Amino acid sequence: MHKEAVRPKMAYRLLNPGCVVLVSAGDGDRDGVFAMTWNMPVRKSPGTVALLSGKRHHTYGIIERTRELGISVPDVSLVNAVYGCGTTSGNHGVDKWERFGITRQAPEIIRAPLVEQAIATLECRVEQVVDMGPSALIIAEILSARAAPEHFTPGGAWRFDSGLQLIHHMGGTAFGVTSSVVHAKLPKD
Ligand SMILES: Cc1cc2nc3c(=O)[nH]c(=O)nc-3n(C[C@H](O)[C@H](O)[C@H](O)COP(=O)(O)O)c2cc1C
Repeated sequence: MHKEAVRPKMAYRLLNPGCVVLVSAGDGDRDGVFAMTWNMPVRKSPGTVALLSGKRHHTYGIIERTRELGISVPDVSLVNAVYGCGTTSGNHGVDKWERFGITRQAPEIIRAPLVEQAIATLECRVEQVVDMGPSALIIAEILSARAAPEHFTPGGAWRFDSGLQLIHHMGGTAFGVTSSVVHAKLPKD
């Protein structure tokens, strides 16, 4: 999918409103990808995200070594691939890309492949890892971001007139969908 550059200060908005994402890592030789719900923007400038990953994940091992990761934002068309990538581990030798019908897209800066079919992608460098026992809280700086122009405006907002449906994990096989925007108003006095 064609994606255009997103201004660094607006890149955090690609992670609003809390979509499930595909996190990838790679060292040029091996790579991995998994589904992640626990992600959030934590700073606008420089754009920074916080991500919670299980330490035993195959992909986490590569993130730990390379200190880089890719984030790919899926729309509803990728829901089966997201579920598959979240319930299968690369530790068992599965090529999730082939199995779940996603394609590697070349990154611009990092070595981790991105997901071609995603509507937006972010390339990140790990800044800090907070040990949380079986999990690691990864704080990473966004180095570059791209989004499909039919789904994300240059001003930094998702546009739903394109029919866009963003997905959120509700537990198990259930995913919620965001497909419209309402504008809030304050009382007159
Ligand atoms: C929808 C969904 C969301 C998930 N979110 C997270 C998450 O936020 N953090 C995490 O560590 N694992 C999460 N998982 C689990 C991992 O994606 C899963 O353990 C995956 O198999 C790890 O892959 P890997 O071992 O190939 O890296 C999620 C799973 C699903 C299905």
